[in-house]
Amino acid sequence: MIKIASLGTSTGKIVETGDSCSDIFHLSVAEIRELFKSCGLILFRGFAVHQKQFKKIAEQFSSKFVRDDVKIGADSSEGAIHLVNEGMGYIDPHAEAATTPLRPDAVWFFCDVSAADGGETLFGDGVQVWSELSEEVKQLFLTKKNKFIHNIPVANWKRFLGENATLTDVKKALNSFEGVKYTITDEQSVTLGYVCSAVVKTKYGNDDSFGNGIINEQRTRKVIFEDDSPIPDAAIDEIKEVMDRLTVAISWQSGDLVMIDNSRFLHGRQTFSDSRRKIVFANSMLNFLVSFFLKMGR
Ligand SMILES: [Fe+2]
Repeated sequence: MIKIASLGTSTGKIVETGDSCSDIFHLSVAEIRELFKSCGLILFRGFAVHQKQFKKIAEQFSSKFVRDDVKIGADSSEGAIHLVNEGMGYIDPHAEAATTPLRPDAVWFFCDVSAADGGETLFGDGVQVWSELSEEVKQLFLTKKNKFIHNIPVANWKRFLGENATLTDVKKALNSFEGVKYTITDEQSVTLGYVCSAVVKTKYGNDDSFGNGIINEQRTRKVIFEDDSPIPDAAIDEIKEVMDRLTVAISWQSGDLVMIDNSRFLHGRQTFSDSRRKIVFANSMLNFLVSFFLKMGR
């Protein structure tokens, strides 16, 4: 029997089966799509998903995977599936790759081995966060776009574009993106500034969402406003307070799978000390569209 319940106070849902024989591939793809459009995050639990099934499940809902060349591949999935291997520390809630023009529609997590303690994945609804920010902070981010600064050494852009890529290829790729300005150093590394709004429209609903990477990036001061002015500390403090209040934690169980709308939900992580923890993830573009009535109704 399948049960659907809310995750904390968010719109996110947990789809759970108490039947150990339940096969996740027996769930209706059409029904999951509709649920996902309305709730933005689904945790599948009790289906005893295996890592080998992970890509196949995500493929049912995806037109393509978006590679993440910073992370180590978790298997032979041609760069689609990655191991979460960024240390064991706390990671602030953020939308995936929102500091770049390569932001995916969805983030997928699969828990192979849960940590004995800690290591919960955090998530927060960007629509809720936006609605709870003060008018002053809202106006600040509505009137000023943000600039995210990236320094990309040669080895990194070669990993992304291929070993034989040249600076001409780099320029061609970067010139194709909106909001990107860059300079190239004598050592052929690229300093890139990506300008975008902190407020995005959700893919399924066209609602305002504070789905961005600001809090995660401001620790290293790699994010400023487009006019090169800093983000005021008071605004950062307010955003953190709202996010902390609305953040929900997923305590992983082995075989859990989570599907996240990256235009709506932010995700992060609690600290952990158990080195056996194994979570893999994938980023993808989704293959299903906004419902007709939603398009027409807004
Ligand atoms: Fe992330």
